[in-house]
Amino acid sequence: MNSKNQQLFSKAQNCLVGGVNSPLRSFKQAQAAPLLLASGKGAYVFDYDQKKYLDYVLCFGAVILGHAHPQVIRALKRQLDQGFSFGTTHETEVRLAEIITGAIGFIEKIRFVNSGSEAVIAAIHLARTYTQRKRVLRFSNSYHGHADYLFTDVIAYGQKEALTDIFQQAGQDIAAVIFEPVGGNCGVIPPDKEFFSQLRAITKKYGSLLIADEVITGFRFGFGSFSQLSGIQPDLICLGKIIGGGLPIGAYAGGSKLMDSLSPLGKIYQASTFAGNPLVMQAGLITLKVLNSQPQDYKKTFRLAQYFSDSFKRQIAANGLKIDLINYGPMFSFRFPAEDSFKVFYREMLKRGIYFAPSQREANFLSFAHTESQVEKTLKAAKPVFSQLKKGASK
Ligand SMILES: Cc1ncc(COP(=O)(O)O)c(C=O)c1O
Repeated sequence: MNSKNQQLFSKAQNCLVGGVNSPLRSFKQAQAAPLLLASGKGAYVFDYDQKKYLDYVLCFGAVILGHAHPQVIRALKRQLDQGFSFGTTHETEVRLAEIITGAIGFIEKIRFVNSGSEAVIAAIHLARTYTQRKRVLRFSNSYHGHADYLFTDVIAYGQKEALTDIFQQAGQDIAAVIFEPVGGNCGVIPPDKEFFSQLRAITKKYGSLLIADEVITGFRFGFGSFSQLSGIQPDLICLGKIIGGGLPIGAYAGGSKLMDSLSPLGKIYQASTFAGNPLVMQAGLITLKVLNSQPQDYKKTFRLAQYFSDSFKRQIAANGLKIDLINYGPMFSFRFPAEDSFKVFYREMLKRGIYFAPSQREANFLSFAHTESQVEKTLKAAKPVFSQLKKGASK
C-alpha cells in the first residue's frame, strides 16, 4: 500500500467511525475508494498523492467562489492575527447580518448557528414553541439535516391532494411545514411554484408557519434567497453553506415579531458557544461581497451548466444510454437506470480526475471558478466512459 491516500484512510478507519466524520465521505454508495483531499485551488482539489481532480462537489455546495479564493484568504489571515474566538458580538457578525437581511427582503432578524442542521433544529423549536403546536410536516425525498427524525409527518412532494388532506385532518396541530425550494438531496428537483403557492395559502389559513430550507439554495441562483427571487414569502428561512464562505455555518431568519420571541428578548431559548465566530463571519462577509459585485458570474454558472447539460445529454443519446441529467441553474444530478452503471461511471470519471458527488441522490455544483475549458475537459473524459457503458449494456 504505497498510496498516501490509502495509508491515511486505513489509519482513519482505526479511529474515526468508518474512517469519516460524515457518511457520504466514505464513497460507499459509489463503491469507490474515498477521496481524501489535502488542498484545493479554484475549481481543483488535490489528494494526498498530489493527484488533481476537477471538483463538482465543492464541499457539498459550500464553496461557491472556488477553493482558496485570495480575498477569502486575506480576510481570514487578518482575523487570525486579531484572535478568532470571543463568544461575544463582533463587528463582522453585524455586517454579515446586515448584508443578508438587506438582500432578503422579507427577513428582519437573523440568528447565526454552526451548521444547516442546527439552523433547522432551532427553526423547528421556534415554530413549535411559538405556535404551541407539535406536528411538523416535511416532504419525502427532502433532507433537512441529521435531525430529520424530528418531523412527525411526511407526505409526497408536490402532491396537492395529500397536502389538503393532512391540513383538513390535523391543520390545527401543525406548527410548521418545511420545504426545499429546489430539491438537492434526491437528485435535483426543480421548483414547483404552483405547489409553493398552495403551501403558502394553506399554512396561512391554518396558522402554521412556512419554513423555506435554503441551506443549499440561499445565494445560489442570485444575490438573495430562492424564495425571494421566485416571489414566495415564507415565515422563516434556514440558510447555511454559501453564507459561511466554506467555513461551518447555519442561520435562521424571519420577521422581527417571530424572531424576537427568541431569548434574550423572548422566552424561547437557543444558544451556542461558537455561533457568529469571527473567522466564519469574515469568510461569509467577503464571499457575499464578491457575489454581490459579480452578478455576471451567476449568469456564467447558469450558461455553463446549461452547456454542460446539453452536451452531456447529446453524448448519452449518441450512445443509446438511458441516463438522465437534471439541472436547475448551476445545480445538477445524474439519474442512472441502475445503481451498478452509476458506480461504473463514477469510478471511471474519478480515475480520469473528475470528482462528482459520490451518490446519485446528491447534487453537483458549478462554482464561479469553473470555466468552459474545464467543462470541455469533463465532456472529453466522459466519452470513453459512455462507450464502456454502452458495451456493457449491449452484452
Ligand atoms: C437542504 C438542506 N438542509 C439542511 C442541511 C444540513 O446542513 P449541514 O450539513 O450544514 O448540517 C443540508 C445539508 O446538505 C441540506 O442540503
